[in-house]
Amino acid sequence: VRIGVFDSGIGGVTVLKELVRRFPVAEFLYLGDTANVPYGSKSPAQVKALCAHAARELGGRGVDAVVVACNTASSLALPEMQAELGDVPVIGMVESGGRAVLERLQECPEGAPVLVLATRATVRSGAYGALLKKALVGTGHAVFEQACPLLVPMIEEGWNDHPILAQAVREYVSPFAAAPIPGVALLGCTHYPWIQPVIERALPGWRVVNSARAVGEVLSRAAGTAESSAAGAEARVTWLFTDPEAVPAFRWEDEESNA
Ligand code: DGL
Repeated sequence: VRIGVFDSGIGGVTVLKELVRRFPVAEFLYLGDTANVPYGSKSPAQVKALCAHAARELGGRGVDAVVVACNTASSLALPEMQAELGDVPVIGMVESGGRAVLERLQECPEGAPVLVLATRATVRSGAYGALLKKALVGTGHAVFEQACPLLVPMIEEGWNDHPILAQAVREYVSPFAAAPIPGVALLGCTHYPWIQPVIERALPGWRVVNSARAVGEVLSRAAGTAESSAAGAEARVTWLFTDPEAVPAFRWEDEESNA
């Protein structure tokens, strides 16, 4: 099978990494729109137009399924992408992320809050909030969404261990860290799994959910792809970037060895 993985840039490799681990014999086509990143500060109309264009590009390359790794694109433009791709299943992050949050919430006491951390465009779309609030109506679990627009640029700058990044994370989450009951926080942006330990330190006692992990499950159902752990099998990744010169320094080998 050939699986298209779409992201606004390079952040989607956090999702690709999980998919490769789960489907080691698949062929992956990674499309990163590095000419137009970031999506998280763009308007819904801009994001939809860029995503429709990307879907046409992937559709023209004969993919069997498309995973929209970008949370901003997943929140705003799944219908536009599906319209371009016809019968090819398009899988976004919101459904799998939401499901993972609800699972983790079962381990929490009554009244534990849910916090979605994401880009400004994702939070403004309300996609995660709508899904989670609907699932949790009448349960006493409150749902909050926090935009963290300073984090993506710092992570792309390689400041993952920098005190300024830790300070920014604390600024964003401190109102929630003070909640009487720790809850579940969702990493609702491709880049945040890279700084998961920083986020965990800023939210003591909270369960932090990496939605990239959950998306593989949804993919296997939608695409009918059997999970395989064939020893020695190697997934093939073809990289496509709309601006190859704007790809930030990144080594796939490092990702694989961290898996
Ligand atoms: N890929 C985006 C997301 O997951 C983050 C980077 C951007 O703003 O384009 O929301």
